[in-house]
Amino acid sequence: MIVAKNAMDRLLRAAAQARRRAYAPYSGFCVGAAVLADGRVYAAVNVENSSFPLSVCAERNAVAAAIAGGARHVEAIAIVGGDSRPTPPCGGCRQVLAEFASSEAPVVYGTEAGNRVSTTLGALLPRAFGPSDLRAPAGPEEGASTSSSAGRAPGMRRRSRR
Ligand code: THU
Repeated sequence: MIVAKNAMDRLLRAAAQARRRAYAPYSGFCVGAAVLADGRVYAAVNVENSSFPLSVCAERNAVAAAIAGGARHVEAIAIVGGDSRPTPPCGGCRQVLAEFASSEAPVVYGTEAGNRVSTTLGALLPRAFGPSDLRAPAGPEEGASTSSSAGRAPGMRRRSRR
């Protein structure tokens, strides 16, 4: 799916606006994220907790809002965090995004000052593990050089097709 540049601009603005509502009293690092999902924009912020590991990233909260809103397909992602340098989504958020977005999904991350980086989810998370890996019979991953035990820990049996 092609997402028009003005739709990406709109998404970035939604992320920047949301960022002002970030709850980040511990790190002071405010992040806003917006996803375009099934044609609608869902924006969210990072929400930290005094029990630090329970803090949740903005991207993950945006995905949760989209899913709770009834959407299932994330078409594009925008993130605003960092004052001078655009900050990309963390590894955990890339994985969460990959559950609902294709590797072609555009991702833009930028600062309020206007610096931005445009990329795709596939570039940020190549060869992502995803729902199809749970369904497919174990076998050589496309494009990878493998041995017969590839992808399985020692002693693990090949998964049978469900
Ligand atoms: N954070 C995000 O919201 N998204 C990311 O992708 C990276 C980090 C938040 C988590 C925490 O509240 C703060 O930024 C500092 O790590």
